[in-house]
Amino acid sequence: MAKIENIKAILEKIKERGLFQDITRFQYLPLHMETALEIVENIGKTRTSKFKIDNENRFAYENIIRWVHCDTQIKCLNPQTKQETTGRLKTGIYIAGNTGSGKSWALEIMSAYAMAYNFQIQIGQTKRCLHWHNTRADAICDEYITTGTLEKYKKMPIIGIQDLGAEPAESLYMGNRMNVLRQILEHRGDHTDKVTLISSNMPINHKTLIDRYGDRVESRLNEMCNYFEIKGKDRRKS
Ligand SMILES: Nc1ncnc2c1ncn2[C@@H]1O[C@H](COP(=O)(O)OP(=O)(O)O)[C@@H](O)[C@H]1O
Ligand SMILES: [Mg+2]
Repeated sequence: MAKIENIKAILEKIKERGLFQDITRFQYLPLHMETALEIVENIGKTRTSKFKIDNENRFAYENIIRWVHCDTQIKCLNPQTKQETTGRLKTGIYIAGNTGSGKSWALEIMSAYAMAYNFQIQIGQTKRCLHWHNTRADAICDEYITTGTLEKYKKMPIIGIQDLGAEPAESLYMGNRMNVLRQILEHRGDHTDKVTLISSNMPINHKTLIDRYGDRVESRLNEMCNYFEIKGKDRRKS
């Protein structure tokens, strides 16, 4: 039988090498929801005076607020049934909805909110601010066709990917055809130390998403993200 000290030493070595890294969240409670919503609404109003949190987006905003505060009361939607269900704090966010319903803004405003409070998250051994950069999926593809690399987006500890599905299905670099987002999402889904936030016109288990990225990605997205939908019409036109 292995000695306890030997087991400890082996586990320590694995940890040192950064294998099986995990995410540690820190709670910022108590959370007073009405105040938090007011602050978020005011952040939105600095961008457009018509910004509001209403019945179309309240569930998403309230629960992303719970997510950044690390409140175990967090809820999300079951992507299959669209019923409310218990959310998870160590996985990311996926917001689906029509064009112009305010998905991208939700990711940007909530990132600003988390940064303003300097909320912390520990990924592996590194403690950092929960703030994330939001990059459009098509901009990631543009970078691939000019540089031939997507390593940066596979490795980033936290990333917001905007408009998943609006990018070209294939990107070409020196004769190499690549479904860039499929590669990135598969990689991130295979690692427990990555947080991925996504906005998309495609519901998570929609046929177009499965056709485009395959069922491996679809199944990983279910694991990687708390699912939300923002309802309503194009706010750009209102
Ligand atoms: N909560 C909101 N209330 C009012 N207007 C909003 C809200 N969120 C976004 N908008 C407006 O709608 C436009 C589209 O939002 P955006 O987040 O880019 O949509 P999409 O869902 O397509 O990502 C923004 O440019 C902004 O003017
Ligand atoms: Mg968008």
